[in-house]
Amino acid sequence: MSGSFDAVSTLNGIYADKIEASLRALCESKRGVIPPRLLKSMSYSLLDGGKRLRPALCLAAAERNGVRAERAMPMAGALEFLHTASLIHDDLPCMDNDDLRRGRPTNHKVFGECLAILAGFSLMIWAFEHALSGLVSNGIPYEAAFRAVSFLCEATGPEGLCGGQTLDTDRESQSADRDFVYEIAEKKTASLIRASVVTGALLAGASDEIVRRYSEYGEHVGIAFQIVDDILDATGTAEKLGKTPRKDEAQDKRTFVSAYGLDGAKQRAERESARAAEALSPLFPGGDLLITLAEQLAHRSR
Ligand code: IPE
Ligand code: IPE
Ligand code: MG
Ligand code: MG
Ligand code: MG
Repeated sequence: MSGSFDAVSTLNGIYADKIEASLRALCESKRGVIPPRLLKSMSYSLLDGGKRLRPALCLAAAERNGVRAERAMPMAGALEFLHTASLIHDDLPCMDNDDLRRGRPTNHKVFGECLAILAGFSLMIWAFEHALSGLVSNGIPYEAAFRAVSFLCEATGPEGLCGGQTLDTDRESQSADRDFVYEIAEKKTASLIRASVVTGALLAGASDEIVRRYSEYGEHVGIAFQIVDDILDATGTAEKLGKTPRKDEAQDKRTFVSAYGLDGAKQRAERESARAAEALSPLFPGGDLLITLAEQLAHRSR
């Protein structure tokens, strides 16, 4: 780590208030428009909690390419909608069967499985509608908005997050191959984290070479992020994580810890973080917060 400087908190310090205010206003805008219990269930999972890493990454990438955070905010909101929806569904009894999320009972524990499924679907579909209409009304050129939203669709659909959740949960889709854990993480987690930075660059009309560098950065940050999530499941506490630890082993999940052991997983996380930093370094010869963030992610504790 570079001294005591905390890049994750710094990134959050820059964007968290704006992101929270935007998410809150979006929920408020649906009051009286959608069934009250559905809004309650969606807001329950969306507001008050979460590190907001994906929207912060998107805004940071957009600003580095010349688009102000305010203009890119609909994409940041869409990313958090999709991420939150994936967590609501991930916690369902048919998936990871979790009771605790972001320090509170999971959505289905409070609202029941039916509303939890519908809240997840609602957030997912709203995400795409909100991104497209919000970006265009913020003056993002139609073609740039379209390219970014298409990228987001691919990242979350069957080739991305949904495919990864299939590999994670469906025994018949699993393989004993050690590289299989990379494939799961790449699809279920890294695809959305990569989309966070790539969409930020695409909104700004960045060149193919710049988009390629953000894509490589996002993939390796995403893998490092999931490796540490696996490590924290094995070593963390519910108080610190806001979710129940020690679930992966109990459910016989294929994780970086099960495939490489704790020390092996830690080394792999460092390697992935270093590859992420390398991908972006040529764009920022004097260093950048996103590079420091990649270096520090391997050591995060929540
Ligand atoms: C948890 O993501 C799920 C994974 C993809 C590992 P986060 O750790 O970003 O969860 P929140 O948003 O902070 O709750
Ligand atoms: C979830 O991975 C990734 C998602 C797409 C939601 P995990 O199942 O390991 O996430 P946690 O540990 O429940 O947050
Ligand atoms: Mg899971
Ligand atoms: Mg889970
Ligand atoms: Mg986990």
